[in-house]
Amino acid sequence: MLTGKRILLIIGGGIAAYKSLELIRGLTRAGALVTPVLTRAGSEFVTPLSVSALAGEKVYSDLWDLTDEAEMGHIQLSRVADLVVVAPATADLMAKMAAGLADDLASTLLLATDTPVLIAPAMNVRMWQHPATRRNLSALTGDGIAVVGPAVGDMACGEHGPGRMAEPADILAAVTARLSGGALSGRHLLITSGPTHEPIDPVRYIANRSSGAQGAAIARAALALGARVSFVTGPAAVAAPDGVEAIRVETAQQMLEAVTAALPADAAIFAAAVADWRVAGPSGSKIKKGQGGSPVLEFTENPDILAHVAGMAEGRPLLVVGFAAETDDVTANATAKRARKGCDWILANDVSPGSGIMGGAENAVTLITGDGAEDWPRAGKDAVAARLVARIAEALA
Ligand code: CTP
Repeated sequence: MLTGKRILLIIGGGIAAYKSLELIRGLTRAGALVTPVLTRAGSEFVTPLSVSALAGEKVYSDLWDLTDEAEMGHIQLSRVADLVVVAPATADLMAKMAAGLADDLASTLLLATDTPVLIAPAMNVRMWQHPATRRNLSALTGDGIAVVGPAVGDMACGEHGPGRMAEPADILAAVTARLSGGALSGRHLLITSGPTHEPIDPVRYIANRSSGAQGAAIARAALALGARVSFVTGPAAVAAPDGVEAIRVETAQQMLEAVTAALPADAAIFAAAVADWRVAGPSGSKIKKGQGGSPVLEFTENPDILAHVAGMAEGRPLLVVGFAAETDDVTANATAKRARKGCDWILANDVSPGSGIMGGAENAVTLITGDGAEDWPRAGKDAVAARLVARIAEALA
């Protein structure tokens, strides 16, 4: 898969550095040749010995090591790779990269390199959300640097939110996508998929019949064309495909948070069946029978994730694609929905009972763009996905 590809792996100083050991194993197993660079802070978390033992190569760490300068100068070291990977990319390392600082070996290599760079940020959630880091991220993506993660979840510091380094398998997938050269190579696609679950109490929830099959098929088709895929999924019956960066959520509000954290993206495809309403003030304890008759549930509207992203003044993906699940007047309703939500394309499908589409293996869609409506013949969800993703690749080209 990565046979003969040279990866310069820069390991920054964060608790997630331990995951870089597993990343090295994954990369070398896939046939890549890994040259590791350990920052001084990185060596507080993993030892040079374990890094070099796994990589089967010496670890570079000091800019002023004259032997290294004689063997391989830092300029040469930065240029021999097919891809430079920074994992974990700490807030400090990202800031240095964004500012063009070069005060140690890692930052010097990053400034001197002329090969593509992929970073896997890892930091505390507040640091990730800090305006300084947002600015640095936008500068780095503007410079053409690819980003994988961070994931949303529990962090070593005890907090919860975006900031966890992407899993080694997800970084490996991003490296493979980057080096595989398909029509979407170097592109980042964000896909939402599956239903959402909206709690009533700790044991009950409101859900819908979405299986997540169409979203998973789109993700597979995007991976096949070399895209990096962030896959934000509700509790779906169909598993997230191997190779995506899966971000698992339950509720619409969590989905919005995960989508925002996964941006920027070149295209965003909203295949999730998001619950329009959630229960206002779900009970913290299980609602018991016999307490004054049946409970009455009050609802409140969920955020519209598609409309939110389509309306972003800054950082909006180049292409925003929604789905429209309709039971009547499919084309007319979906055309109105496209205008209302502000997205570029809508893929409309008839989910009326008897169509067998919701939860089924096939889909019959109408693609609505600014140029009008196009009926696609009923086909397997994989075939619909391949056609959609090919159109996206064309639009982004
Ligand atoms: N969607 C979303 N967030 C929501 C609701 C919907 O992102 N809170 C997205 C879906 O992923 C889909 C599109 O919006 O891409 C349309 O979903 P649909 O359920 O057809 O539309 P609704 O907004 O629910 O409109 P209506 O109930 O009027 O049909």
